Amino acid sequence: MLSKKVESALNEQIKLEFFSSHLYLAMASWAEVNGYKGSAEFLYIHAEEERIHALKLFRYVNDRGGKALASVVESPKYDYASISALFNEIFEHEIVISSAINELVGRCMDERDFTTTNFLQWYVTEQIEEESLFRSIIDKLNLLGDDKAKMYLFDNDIAKLKPATAKTV
Ligand code: FEO
Repeated sequence: MLSKKVESALNEQIKLEFFSSHLYLAMASWAEVNGYKGSAEFLYIHAEEERIHALKLFRYVNDRGGKALASVVESPKYDYASISALFNEIFEHEIVISSAINELVGRCMDERDFTTTNFLQWYVTEQIEEESLFRSIIDKLNLLGDDKAKMYLFDNDIAKLKPATAKTV
């Protein structure tokens, strides 16, 4: 059985994961209408992955006797100065998510909820993979610079990149 504190902390994380899904969907829309088809495909898949992150937590909360909340999330931003700026924002966002996961693990340990602490290890590992994936994309963008022809190649390339994980709930 989850304590009220852990249940509420998990529901906050669910909301954050749903927000990430919305954010990446908004980014996919920007990329698609600005001619970055490869990036858009990548972002659509990534938005779906974030939804899976949220659902995995959602079902865990109910399995452990809590009540999972499908909270309303704030509207994400739709305007980006460039494809590089967009991917830089993703990287910054993933760092925020990693801190939130670490904070959540700390709170579960404080509550001596070792089952949830153990469950959250999947997210800890996932964040390492996500940060590494987006760091490598940014490194590539920095190497290419702002040249339009090179951005076209980048966009073709990223469509072939498989998301870090595509696990189901
Ligand atoms: Fe669910 Fe990209 O963190």
